[in-house]
Order: sequence, then C-alpha cells, then structure tokens
Amino acid sequence: MTAQARKPIVAANWKMHTTPGQARDLAAQTVAAIPSASRAAVEIVLCPPFIALEGVHEAVGSEVRLGAQNMHWEAQGAFTGEISPTMLVPWCWYVILGHSERRQYFGETNHDVHLKVKAAFAHGLTPIVCVGESLAQREAGETHAWVALQVREALHGVSPAQLATLVLAYEPIWAIGTGKTASGPDANAVAAMIREVVAAIGGAAAAQAARVQYGGSVNGTNAAEFLCQPDIDGALVGGASLKPEEFARIVGAATV
Ligand code: PGA
Repeated sequence: MTAQARKPIVAANWKMHTTPGQARDLAAQTVAAIPSASRAAVEIVLCPPFIALEGVHEAVGSEVRLGAQNMHWEAQGAFTGEISPTMLVPWCWYVILGHSERRQYFGETNHDVHLKVKAAFAHGLTPIVCVGESLAQREAGETHAWVALQVREALHGVSPAQLATLVLAYEPIWAIGTGKTASGPDANAVAAMIREVVAAIGGAAAAQAARVQYGGSVNGTNAAEFLCQPDIDGALVGGASLKPEEFARIVGAATV
C-alpha cells in the first residue's frame, strides 16, 4: 500500500486543557473551521479529557472520531482514579497510548503500553501508540535503536490484522511543546524504520497498511513539511489543536 492509499489521520491531543463546556465549544469550532471536503479526505480525531468525551460526542461525534488520551488495561477493578477500556467504548474509536508525558511523569513502561495495546484491541478500540527519543538519545545517535525497541515491546504478539489498523505516532520528546521540530526527511526516516519493525512483527502487508503520524510542535506553517513525506500519514497535534483555525490549516496540509 502506498502513502496515497493510506488515509491521512490528524489527531488533536487536548491534554489537560478544557472544561467539559469549553471542550464542547472547541469541538464545534474545530469542526466548523474544517471544510467538509477535508473532513472526507482526512480522518480527524479529537482527544479531549475523559470527562469531556460525552459532551464532545454529543456536539460533533457524527462528524469526527473521538479518542481518549490514556486508559488502564483492566476492564474494571480496584484501580482508584483509572479509566477502563469499557468506559471509553461508547465514545471513542481511538485511544492514545504511551504518550511521552505518560512515560515521563507517570512512569509508564513499554510493558504497560503493551498491556494497554492488547486491551484496546480486545475491546474494539484502535490504539495510537506514541514513541520517541529524548534529546540526549538523539545526540548519542540512539534514536533508531530506542524507537525500534519501544515499537517491538509495545506490539509483540499483536496480530497482523490488528497491526494493519494501528496508528503509531513518532514524537521526539524534545520537539513536544518546544517549538522545535525534526526535519521532514529525518522524521520520515524514523517513520520508515517504524514501518520496518511493524513488518518484522506482522508482515509487510500489515506494515504498509498501518499509519504513522509525526508529532511535536506541528503547526499550520510547518505541517506540510511532514505531511508530504512518503512514510508519514498524518500528525498528532498538541498546542496547535487548541486553536481551531490553526488545526484546520494542519488538516488542510494533509488534504493535498
Ligand atoms: P505539541 O504536542 O504539538 O504541543 O508539541 C504534541 C503531542 O504531545 O502530542
């Protein structure tokens, strides 16, 4: 499958921003800012905070798909403060897993991400699995080996059919929220390497069907540099996704 055959996917990660009311408004404004032709050509995913999912679903759930920003791997149980896959299923198509902020601030390991990936698929949710290197790792020339390890440890044992639907987000940690980005060709080289690791796990067909996003300070001005790359199929957007016009420009860059 070529990049042209993979539908671009642009996801908005609102992180710990917006009250439920603000999230409804932001969702409506975001959808209104994106022309309907772009909404047909590009898969758009909004990932609000958990408690805003229902309201955002009511506001725009028929126009775009929703995703959660995290989840626990158990279906239920004594895990105070956690959210299970079964709680997300009514609202979400996607779930972001292994975001670097989860790994950095909440101690998530590759094994945790693996358990969550398996649970997501078991409950009919599609994971957006985040991987990426620190600045020190990049400077030490360890990017490819580190990211390959993250992908292997997250995805081992996942079936080819599941891998084919998967989304991976390559997000260099040093580029998240910093205004710095990888270059388009650099990010593409990592995306291509990620696809090779997926191929080694589940075969070439699954790897060609899986979509790989770039994330880290993507905005309306720099999006095209990433979205024109052959192995990059979309973007995971943080800060710029809180501004409807800016997010719409990123979706526009994915439309061409
Ligand atoms: P950013 O965040 O676009 O604000 O850099 C991206 C992300 O964390 O997914």
